[in-house]
Amino acid sequence: MKAKILVTGGVGYIGSHTAVELQKAGYEVVILDNLSNSNAEVLDGIKNITGIRPAFEKMDMQDKNALRQLFEKHPGIKGVINFAASKAVGESVKKPLLYYRNNLVTMLNLLDLMPEYGVTALVFSSSCTVYGQPDRLPVDETAPIKLALSPYGNTKRICEEIIADTIYAGAPFKSVLLRYFNPIGAHPTAEIGELPLGVPQNLLPYITQTAIGIRPQLSVFGDDYETPDGSCIRDYINVVDLAKAHVKAIEYILENKGEKAVEAFNLGTGRGVSVLELIHTFEEATKVKLNYKIVNRREGDIPQIWANPEKANKILGWKAEVPLPDTLLSAWKWQLHLREKGIM
Ligand code: WQD
Repeated sequence: MKAKILVTGGVGYIGSHTAVELQKAGYEVVILDNLSNSNAEVLDGIKNITGIRPAFEKMDMQDKNALRQLFEKHPGIKGVINFAASKAVGESVKKPLLYYRNNLVTMLNLLDLMPEYGVTALVFSSSCTVYGQPDRLPVDETAPIKLALSPYGNTKRICEEIIADTIYAGAPFKSVLLRYFNPIGAHPTAEIGELPLGVPQNLLPYITQTAIGIRPQLSVFGDDYETPDGSCIRDYINVVDLAKAHVKAIEYILENKGEKAVEAFNLGTGRGVSVLELIHTFEEATKVKLNYKIVNRREGDIPQIWANPEKANKILGWKAEVPLPDTLLSAWKWQLHLREKGIM
């Protein structure tokens, strides 16, 4: 068995897929989650895929004592992948203090305790939102970091800075900052996937819920952007590909592959896809016709962003592999699975 890794927020969408890939790579996984935005049944899904039910602690990382008790109860944790955070862009605009408190206090508690318990690796779940609307595309890691358009995005930028300042002050651990583009899809077994509570904010869950009849119609937020078909362009990355990048990031630190103590990587496919192109690709892949209409732009949307993933390809030895149609099919299969289970 390789090292023991703590996955905070590990019952969530990307966290659960990462727990699966860590177990498949031979790591021992401990999951911490406050279940504020996820369901403990996800642990059964992980076990159904890998045969191993991860150790699980229900707790809130804002409670430093509870976090200390976790490290006492699970000695020998060598690395942490920190997903635990509030992550709805729109909600963050309405509730900034909730976002700053949750996303920053949890990070501060973790950074405080890691040296006490011999943790030497931190992988941070960051976002391409730190770039705002880049001046040049595709965007690489040298692009300027901009003030984000939402408190959510600001917490990602601030957490990156807190991690860097803490390490430069001499903290005895290294960190990799993973800047995700747009994670989509589900595990091919349909045992785990994205489970948005309430009305989905993100595009693909809204598409699959429209396709299955939960939502009457998808609204496309604008087709008057300066893009080939007028709709916004994003870099949609398969969630299993994304999860595999976290295993590579943990290895990169624990096997001392890098010189720098803090390193950022853009995790994308390197290909921009428009909203309308995604809709049409979904229809072709699933043979399901989608009911949608063009409406006004959504406040805060940037017109276009996609990654230059060369640094992650070369240095992490990671590359996005799953073709877009297969990813869209995995999301549809997951939505059908939720219907069969009577979940939605
Ligand atoms: C994608 C495109 C919408 C819904 C956000 C966060 C980012 C990350 C991913 C957490 C946009 C359009 C959407 C709909 C639509 N989150 N759209 N109708 O905004 O690129 O990124 O989620 O890490 O940090 O910023 O993703 O899926 O919301 O939107 O037309 O019902 O789909 O306008 O162009 P986004 P999204």
